[in-house]
This record gives sequence, structure tokens and C-alpha cells, in this order.
Amino acid sequence: MAAGDSGDAVAKVLAAFREEQARGVASRSDFERLKGRFLGREKGLVPALFAGVRDLPPSERAALGARANAAKVEIESAVAGLGEDLARREREARERAAAVDVTLPGRRAPTGGLHPVTVVRRRIERVFLRMGYSIADGPELENDRTNFEMLNFPPEHPARDTQDTFFVSKKAKSPLLLRTHTSPVQIREMSRRGAPLRIIVPGRVYRNEALDATHAAVIHQLEGLVVDRGISMADLKGTIEEFLAALFGPDTKVRFIPTFFPFVEPGADVAMTCIFCRGAGCGKCKGSGWIEIMGAGAVHPKVLENCGIDPEEFTGFAFGLGLDRIALLLFGFPDLRLLLEGDQRFLRRFAFES
Ligand code: PHE
Repeated sequence: MAAGDSGDAVAKVLAAFREEQARGVASRSDFERLKGRFLGREKGLVPALFAGVRDLPPSERAALGARANAAKVEIESAVAGLGEDLARREREARERAAAVDVTLPGRRAPTGGLHPVTVVRRRIERVFLRMGYSIADGPELENDRTNFEMLNFPPEHPARDTQDTFFVSKKAKSPLLLRTHTSPVQIREMSRRGAPLRIIVPGRVYRNEALDATHAAVIHQLEGLVVDRGISMADLKGTIEEFLAALFGPDTKVRFIPTFFPFVEPGADVAMTCIFCRGAGCGKCKGSGWIEIMGAGAVHPKVLENCGIDPEEFTGFAFGLGLDRIALLLFGFPDLRLLLEGDQRFLRRFAFES
């Protein structure tokens, strides 16, 4: 190779490099390609210049070697500069990607909601707390005495058959059972605290029922009990009217139908204006315009006596209702089993109720 050719080769490589340098590198792969093209050990243009130097006559080697060296130094430092520049741009892009954009809407964390039965219980509690009632509680594992006997269900009385009972042990002095209603808490509270008394008792109750759209073996009740001087059926009626109007709307009417519960006298099935047809008559109320919603009555004098309260001095009223059934009516869904299945597609509907 002639010296001039080799000199031109150095100039060409430098010119080619400067052109690429001016264009810059857009990406990491662009940079690697450029670096390989000029500095690559095997096929790089700069190492090739030195191979050319070896082929020259000794007299020309030094001059060309010096030029090739200068080109190598220039290209190496320029490549290093391009590399640093690229690394800085890459770091900036990473930081931009990781930055929090405070102008974006937040992502809502999935939160739980109240179960529809809990929603209903709390709404009813609020109504009665406003009326000056307090909330009482009792055990779910009861005994025959408080669940039946002291509530004036005599042994072997057919009224017991209406509450199909889960017995836990029949050996005890008074057989142990899962309470079939919240009424035994009447007995416990009257015996413990005496009169006057004004309580509500929400709680779980158990009956040996086959599960279907309107029956379950575990349901929720809410009991009310007022004992004081001069309490009458008129107080009961006014209270129930006030309560149902608060829960279902002010145009809700109430009707009492005489019925029998051993622990009240007189006893009543309370019906209210059908919430589906507002009294006109529909399929849900079998054309009557009324739906039955709870049991109620004046506390039986024997029950007061059983709890050490003088029925000559004190009278009272009591009522009891099913919270699951109220939820069904209030939220308008067709099947009690929805309350037990924990299906999020159903429960989500109540996430914002309180
Ligand atoms: N304890 C009754 C039941 O579960 C309901 C009731 C409560 C009736 C209070 C009258 C008074 O069927």
C-alpha cells in the first residue's frame, strides 16, 4: 500500500466518523453499532488502519502511525462522550417513566361494604336510639327455661312446634338449645334490670328450617321491649307507626291483626302498606295491599311476674321482626339465599349503603 493511500485511509475514517458523530446516536443499539464499526477489535475501521501501517516501508511507518494514533485517540474519546451522553439520556427517560404524575386520577383501593342485614340493623337501631331505647344483647346458646318456659310456653305446648328447635343437649336441668327468637333476652333483661325498661335486641336466631327463597335456618331478628307505668297498646301502635314510617317512608300505614303468642296478651301480627304497590294490591301482597312484617303485643302479666316485676304496677309492650326479611323488602331482591352466599356481584350493590 502506498503512503498516500494510507494517509487518505486515515482521513476517510475520520471523515466517516465525524459524519456519524454529527448525526448522533438515538439508541443503545445505534451506539453499539457505531462503536463496533470504528473500534471493533475484529472488523473495526480504526484497528484496520494499524494493520495498514505494518505493511508500509519503515520510513513511512512513523508518520502514518502517528496520524492513525491521533485518529484513534480522537475517535475513542468521542465515542466515550457519545456513550456518556446516551447514558444520561437513558437515566432521564427512566426517571421520567418512574415519576408520579400528580395530575392523574387516583386508583381507588377496593374496600369492603356493610352486609345488607347489617345496613338494615343499623338503620333500625338509629330509629330506636333516637326514641331513647338502648341496645341489649344475649347468648345464642339458650336453655329451655329462658327461650320458652319463662316466656309462658308451658311444657309440651303446641306453640313450641311453631319454632322448630335445634337442641344441643337435652340432658341438662333445662335443655340447652340454639335460641329460636330474641325474646329470651326480654327475660334476661327484665330479671336483671327490672322496670322501667326500654330496649331493642338485635341478634342471630336459629330454626330447623329447610333452606329456600324465603326460609333459612339462621336468621336475624330484632326485638323491642318497653316496660313502664301506664304502657298500653296505643303506645305500641304509635311506636310501630313511627318506626315503619322512618324506615319505609311517611305514607306507610300500619294494621294490627289479632294473633297468639304465649308471651303477649293481646298479641298481634303487624302488617304494613305493601311497598311494591303502595296498597293497591299486587302479586307480592296477594292482592291485599298489605304485607306482614312483625309480631307484637302487650307483655303478658305472667311474663312480668316470672321476671319479678309487679304487673299491677307495670305494663309493657314487645315486638319482634326478621331483619333478613326487611332487607329483602327494603332493597327489593327476591331470594333470602343471596344474603348467605357472599357473592360479590350481589354484595357490591350495598357498598355505599349505611
Ligand atoms: N318472638 C316472636 C317470634 O319469633 C316474635 C314476637 C316478639 C312476637 C315479640 C311478639 C312480641 O315469632
